[in-house]
Amino acid sequence: MTTGLGTEIVSVVNKLQDVFSAVGTSAAQIDLPQICVLGSQSSGKSSVLENIVGRDFLPRGTGIVTRRPLVLQLINRPASAPMPNGVPAAAKVNGTDSAANENEWGEFLHLPNQKFYDFNKIREEIVRDTEAKTGRNAGISPLPINLRIYSPNVLTLTLVDLPGLTKVPVGDQPRDIEKQIKDMLLKYISKPACIILAVTAANTDLANSDGLKLAREVDPEGTRTIGVLTKVDLMDQGTDVVDILAGRIIPLRLGYVPVVNRGQRDIDQSKAISAALENERQFFENHPSYKGKSQYCGTPFLARKLNMILMHHIRATLPDIKARITQQLQKYNAELQSLGGPMGDGNSGNVVLSVITEFTSEFRTVIDGNTNDLSLNE
Ligand code: GDP
Ligand code: NA
Ligand code: MG
Repeated sequence: MTTGLGTEIVSVVNKLQDVFSAVGTSAAQIDLPQICVLGSQSSGKSSVLENIVGRDFLPRGTGIVTRRPLVLQLINRPASAPMPNGVPAAAKVNGTDSAANENEWGEFLHLPNQKFYDFNKIREEIVRDTEAKTGRNAGISPLPINLRIYSPNVLTLTLVDLPGLTKVPVGDQPRDIEKQIKDMLLKYISKPACIILAVTAANTDLANSDGLKLAREVDPEGTRTIGVLTKVDLMDQGTDVVDILAGRIIPLRLGYVPVVNRGQRDIDQSKAISAALENERQFFENHPSYKGKSQYCGTPFLARKLNMILMHHIRATLPDIKARITQQLQKYNAELQSLGGPMGDGNSGNVVLSVITEFTSEFRTVIDGNTNDLSLNE
């Protein structure tokens, strides 16, 4: 998953969490924000999420494919951890994104104790359980599917794939489908800790973007909304998104990132994510409108932007964690006193504090290195 969220932040957060668990500081935890995709049906939401994770496992396609929220918890687990039982030794196959790998697997909340090493099987189970709860005929349900992915290459983080905004009921959908979906989405995106990826297909009119409109309702200041422009490859000859990127159409504080995901034919032909990302890179590097700014285009840049937002979040969270540890430490010392004076070195809390202090400055360096990204769309 080298294409996913940066290894820098993965290692920093995991180091910190390792220290917490080593000294048993349960009060100190970094709650990373949830990342939700928001936009019209078939705008490319599932495709964007998949590219960020770097694995091929979500159902995608034309029409309403995502019909229940998918709450996807990525959980970092070191590759050196002991093997769970029953893993076929020869399970690792190279070359395809959904290939089995003994260090990466998925587990559904509704299927406890069942490990999925084949990401194609994960997709099949999402489709199966969606149909089991909503029928086959385009029905929707707010009942989430909970999926955990364990891997050494992910940041412990929650991503949410959501059904798209739609206006006209089809199949078994109720007459008030628009309102039902909107209410469902609002439940997720209203949370202040939710980072919204407002997805709009570049070959549609930005002014009519349902995703942007709804994002603005819950995040009027635009402090947690990133605009994502998909299908840039499908725009008419001679048109481009340069004015949007420059903030001349609907300005967004965190800006827009144009991306090129796999088209339906790529999906039908099982084109690998790595090949799709290479294709995306070439598209932006060779396109006359984007080649001067290609480093600010595409999925890797979107992932970096997300990293930076997460870094800011962690930095903002650290003082609170420090305060909680100090508090615990005082309580702990008071208890020791009442037992007749300090025993042992009683230093584990201080260790955590010094590690956090060290990381705070480490974060600052990383964040300062990335902060320019915020204004790149000018
Ligand atoms: P969702 O309904 O918003 O989750 O959209 P999907 O990710 O399921 O994608 C809908 C359709 O659009 C699929 O057929 C994708 O292959 C296609 N698609 C998504 N993004 C792009 C893109 O950037 N370029 C092209 N050519 N097709 C895309
Ligand atoms: Na779709
Ligand atoms: Mg979808």
